[in-house]
Amino acid sequence: MKKMRRLVIGNWKMNPGTLVAARSIFLATRRVAERLRNAEVVLCPPFPFLAPLARLVGQGKNFSIGAQDVFWRNGGSFTGEVSPEMLEDLGLTTVIIGHSERRALGEMGEVIAKKLTAAAREGFRVILCIGERARDDGGDYLGYVRTELAESLRGFQKRYLPELVIAYEPIWAIGKRFRAAAEPREIEEMAIFIRKTLSEMYLSDLALHVPILYGGSVEVKNASEIVSAGNVAGLLVGHESLVPEDFAEILREIDVS
Ligand code: PGA
Repeated sequence: MKKMRRLVIGNWKMNPGTLVAARSIFLATRRVAERLRNAEVVLCPPFPFLAPLARLVGQGKNFSIGAQDVFWRNGGSFTGEVSPEMLEDLGLTTVIIGHSERRALGEMGEVIAKKLTAAAREGFRVILCIGERARDDGGDYLGYVRTELAESLRGFQKRYLPELVIAYEPIWAIGKRFRAAAEPREIEEMAIFIRKTLSEMYLSDLALHVPILYGGSVEVKNASEIVSAGNVAGLLVGHESLVPEDFAEILREIDVS
């Protein structure tokens, strides 16, 4: 049976502090990523580093850079924002939208929905981040995720489903050490729930093919188990994507898992 190609997103957040440091992490990761056979890597550096790093990406299909956010309009009076057109001009094809750290700064479902549609219309692969704040015995967290999906995808048309990737990132598991990550069993259960919710929303087989990633304290010690036992298409890695040796090990393990 043909193995599923994995997707690993490295989300650098607001790190590192200089272009010199960014270039060094980038080049170390590129070296490893270019040798992968069964996994694709997308590094998402902060905006100021995108243009200089885009020039160093190379031709391989396994390795590219993406953005951590994007605005929903091309051009206009929107101080501080970055448009889909600008990212496209750099050759980018992937953007993260709706990360919980942006939601915590006040980004609401309506804004996320606008960004998703604008970016998908422009041809980007959109990584939509969702995830509950906390777990509870009554299963309210499932309702939370369902609502988040419905709000974020309001107006997102069926024909754009092939551009959609969902990153399940429970907020309680983000930014900690590997023991705090969700268990593979919890991840698998949630991936099934997300797929079911998408199928109900879209009544289309396209929903069955939306890749679902996991993010939240992924480290060398838990990465391959999460992918194989958690039954997800890949990972969204935060702090470990800034440590080239560790990230390289994660990538090599995912490549063969
Ligand atoms: P983390 O971050 O791997 O540092 O937990 C993941 C994320 O927030 O995307």
